[in-house]
Amino acid sequence: MSFAAGPKTQNQMEILLNAEVVAHRVHELAAQISADYRGRPLRLVGILKGAWMFLADLIRHMDLEDVSVDFLGVASYGRSTKSSGEARITKDLDQSIEGLDVLIVEDILDTGETFSYLQEILTARQPKSLKAVVLLDKPSRRTRPAQADYVGFTIPDEFVVGYGLDYAENYRQLPDVRVLRQEGKGEKG
Ligand code: PRP
Repeated sequence: MSFAAGPKTQNQMEILLNAEVVAHRVHELAAQISADYRGRPLRLVGILKGAWMFLADLIRHMDLEDVSVDFLGVASYGRSTKSSGEARITKDLDQSIEGLDVLIVEDILDTGETFSYLQEILTARQPKSLKAVVLLDKPSRRTRPAQADYVGFTIPDEFVVGYGLDYAENYRQLPDVRVLRQEGKGEKG
């Protein structure tokens, strides 16, 4: 880890996906998901913390009568830009998902470790169906096979922050997705 001391200022980071581009794509995803689940109750499971902003925008553009929300806290990165390859629950769901159509809402699919873990623990709870929407997909980073059902953007191997995504809990508030470059080479998010 070799960032300069303290958070970078926002203009030191290159915008990868501006707020308008993100909003447009989120709108498209909401329309597609609404069409696919029309007439069926849907439980969204937002993965904390990164997915909260994405979920908030996604759900308000969905055109579904029966949609509910729960949150699952999962951590994998700690304070590093490199995945630890381990996932753990930091906050469990409040309600059972047994017999429900469940859609996992994730901000980013990176190594696939968290995604695999989620599939395993949520499948064990016997939902009627289990699918996933991710805003960002970095397929070049996979250490496990993982494929989301709905993908907002496929992105290169850059460490990204903003729109809910953090580096050491900073930058989640940014309205767009930005690239946070390290001074040294080596680790990447
Ligand atoms: C990020 C992200 C995913 C996961 C993806 O979470 O929100 O859950 O990492 O990485 P992977 O595919 O390599 O497992 P993080 O652990 O950073 O927690 P956060 O959402 O609270 O920021």
